[in-house]
Amino acid sequence: MGQAPNITIVGSINMDIVTITDQLPKMGETILGQQFQMNPGGKGANQAVASARLGAAVQMIGCVGEDLFGNEMIAHLNSEGVDVSNVEQVATQTGTASITVSNKDNNIIVVPGANNHVTASFVEAKRDVIAESDILILQLEIPLDGVLKAVEIATKNGVIVILNPAPIRELPADLLNKVDYLTPNEHEIKHLTNEKNHAELIEKVILTKGSEGVSYFQKGKEINIPAYTIDVVDTTGAGDSFNAGFAVALGQGLSVEAACLYGNAVAALSTTRLGAQTGMPTADEVQEFLSNKN
Ligand code: RIB
Repeated sequence: MGQAPNITIVGSINMDIVTITDQLPKMGETILGQQFQMNPGGKGANQAVASARLGAAVQMIGCVGEDLFGNEMIAHLNSEGVDVSNVEQVATQTGTASITVSNKDNNIIVVPGANNHVTASFVEAKRDVIAESDILILQLEIPLDGVLKAVEIATKNGVIVILNPAPIRELPADLLNKVDYLTPNEHEIKHLTNEKNHAELIEKVILTKGSEGVSYFQKGKEINIPAYTIDVVDTTGAGDSFNAGFAVALGQGLSVEAACLYGNAVAALSTTRLGAQTGMPTADEVQEFLSNKN
């Protein structure tokens, strides 16, 4: 693999408030759960940490609150080797994600808080950071105008753009046309491609399918890269890990197919521990895992 890329993430930073339970309560019902944790999270921060562990030079652009969670998130990202000089503290609460983990799957409610301050004008002020990157990665936990501005700056400066459209929302056609890669899951893709735009968009889609692996598309043909079989503890952050692995491999000059394989390995390893970032592997751990598979 080539030199590790310079990756900028414009995205969310959340405190994950995690409950582990055997069963889910019905509306109006109270049940007893098994375990509780608070972990650093947010799709943006997760992708930043995963990319940094894989050896990339990573700049995070985002906002946290002027509160304890905000202080913790900045200290944590810094300790992971992520450049936090463009993470600002604003006078509101840090974003939170209430996560329920049950039977190795999860559901999540995000309250964006400070992430809502990552607007077009906030991103414009960070123009040079984006322009000097090899790769820009975005998700949809910040305002859409912030996403649009970041993509505009990146495309003007020849930066590769990966948009992870999660959580899904209505997106302008111009944005979809500008990005280089879209990494939806099977639920999200239904909102992105329709009969009219399918042929154009599908060639930039890397479809993540959980335990089924990922697919990319060449001349309309779906090519599936199967997932690695591993003992799963928690899938939270697996998609983020895939995105980071895919980006780092692509930035090192690997083909889309090889980048998908690498992303799959990163995602698989990330599911072996509870918490979005806890199991995210280093480049050496991925190498060892892949060597043992061959
Ligand atoms: O992708 C997982 C992440 O989604 C969690 O860390 C949570 O913060 C939500 O943003």
